Amino acid sequence: MQDKTMLTIDAYNKNISRYTDKFMNYSPYVMHVIDFGGLLENDYKVLDIGCGPGNVAKQLCALKRLEITGIDLSSEMLEIARVNVPDGVFYLKDSRKASFSLEYFDAVVLSFSIVHLNDDEMKEVLTNAVKWLRSGGYLYLSFMEGKQPGFEITSFSSQPIYFNYFQESEIEDLLKGNGIDCFRSVRQGYLELDGSSTTEVFLFGKKR
Ligand SMILES: C[S@@+](CC[C@H](N)C(=O)[O-])C[C@H]1O[C@@H](n2cnc3c(N)ncnc32)[C@H](O)[C@@H]1O
Repeated sequence: MQDKTMLTIDAYNKNISRYTDKFMNYSPYVMHVIDFGGLLENDYKVLDIGCGPGNVAKQLCALKRLEITGIDLSSEMLEIARVNVPDGVFYLKDSRKASFSLEYFDAVVLSFSIVHLNDDEMKEVLTNAVKWLRSGGYLYLSFMEGKQPGFEITSFSSQPIYFNYFQESEIEDLLKGNGIDCFRSVRQGYLELDGSSTTEVFLFGKKR
């Protein structure tokens, strides 16, 4: 349990209730999920990568009748996701090793899950996620901009978690090169424990 991912997953497993207390219905994020849900149609197949406690999937399912597939590396998160989205299918899977049928999903969600990947891993996971999305399908992606990658103490875990940061332009260029046009971007501040503000980016994309 020494690599960054295992340490991060261990921290999530041990701080589930603190995470869900804060983020299960965190209104600054829910409003973007609701906007995204407006793009989806009933019976869409939606893949949620790094689904956590199923918060985003649950919010989407309140809007439309959806077939949810969620993956996460935290068994504790998945346990809660299965309760929150009883009709969903959830797998204990590493996003870096996951594999799905090409062009299978109508929508793919990556809500603050690339933030635990290094630069190369992020590129590979995003490239694969786009392959699993059908032409005309929608992508929801959120992440933070700015700082240097490394381990951090957060408001929901006193055990360090690995976070990485990306530039919006870098992500949009990567997506564009993989056939995704970003048609909506929202930037907002997140208040950190030390009083500083981190820029969060929410992107909506459509596959050509
Ligand atoms: C910040 S939480 C986001 C959870 C949820 N998507 C949300 O928006 O609240 C990050 C999630 O990614 C998961 N995760 C981290 N690394 C992962 C990996 N390599 N493969 C799958 N899931 C991973 C964690 O277990 C955690 O549930």
